[in-house]
Amino acid sequence: MTKIPDKSPAVIHTMFNMISKEYDFLNNLMSFGIHQNIKLKCVQSLDIKPHANVIDLCCGTGDIARLIKKVQPQSIVTGIDFSENMLEIAKNKSEGIQYFQGDVTNLPYPDETFDIVTMGFGLRNIHNAEKAVEEVYRILKPNGLFLHLDFGEKNFLSHIFDMVVPSAIKLFTENSLPYKYLIESKKAFPIPADLIKDFESKGFKLNKRLDFISGVISAQIMEKRG
Ligand SMILES: C[S@@+](CC[C@H](N)C(=O)[O-])C[C@H]1O[C@@H](n2cnc3c(N)ncnc32)[C@H](O)[C@@H]1O
Repeated sequence: MTKIPDKSPAVIHTMFNMISKEYDFLNNLMSFGIHQNIKLKCVQSLDIKPHANVIDLCCGTGDIARLIKKVQPQSIVTGIDFSENMLEIAKNKSEGIQYFQGDVTNLPYPDETFDIVTMGFGLRNIHNAEKAVEEVYRILKPNGLFLHLDFGEKNFLSHIFDMVVPSAIKLFTENSLPYKYLIESKKAFPIPADLIKDFESKGFKLNKRLDFISGVISAQIMEKRG
C-alpha cells in the first residue's frame, strides 16, 4: 500500500530548512546532474518574451528562476518559497531576481499579475495542493502559461530509482529521513495524465507535455483559458 507522507506545512518547512545546505549537491548526485538540463529544456519550451512577468513558485535554491533569467534576460523574475534557508542560497547565487518568503497557497499578488508561473518539484510537497493550483490560476493573466515539473510515470525505471536512491543517499548524508520522504511523496503523487485532468478541472488546458528519462520526470505546460 502507498504510504501517505506527512505534508503538514510545519513539517515540510522544517525539512527544507534542514536540508538546504546539501540540497543542490544531493540533487545533482541523484540525477547525475541531468535535472539542470531538464529544467533548461522546460524553460526554453516556454518561449518567454522580453519583459514577461514570470514567477517561480517553491523556488528553493533558485535553479528555475535563474534559468528563466538566463534564457530571457529581459524578463522580470520573482521567486517565492517558504523556507528561509533555501531562499538564502538562492539569493546568494542570483542577480536580477527578486526573492520573497511566502506560502504558495496564499500569494500576495492581485489577480492576473503574471504571464508565466513555474513550479518544479514543489506541488508534491504541498498539503493543500488544490489551493496552490487555484492560486496559480488566479495570479496568471488570461492565456498565461503554467509550467509544472516533477516526477511522472511510475514505470520500471521509476521503481529502480525508488530502490537505489535511498541507499545511495545514505552514503552522503547523516539524515536520510528527508530522502525516505522523497520516495514516499513520489509514490503517492499522481501520474501526469491524472495531474493534467486535475489542472483542467481548475480551468487550464494542456499546451504541451514534455517527458524525460522515459517519463520518470515529466512536465506539463498548461494554459489558462482566456
Ligand atoms: C523539492 S524543493 C524544489 C526546489 C526547486 N524548485 C527545484 O526545482 O530544485 C521544494 C520546495 O518547495 C518549498 N515549499 C513547499 N511547500 C511550500 C509552500 N506551501 N509555500 C512555499 N514554498 C513551499 C520548499 O521549501 C522547497 O524549497
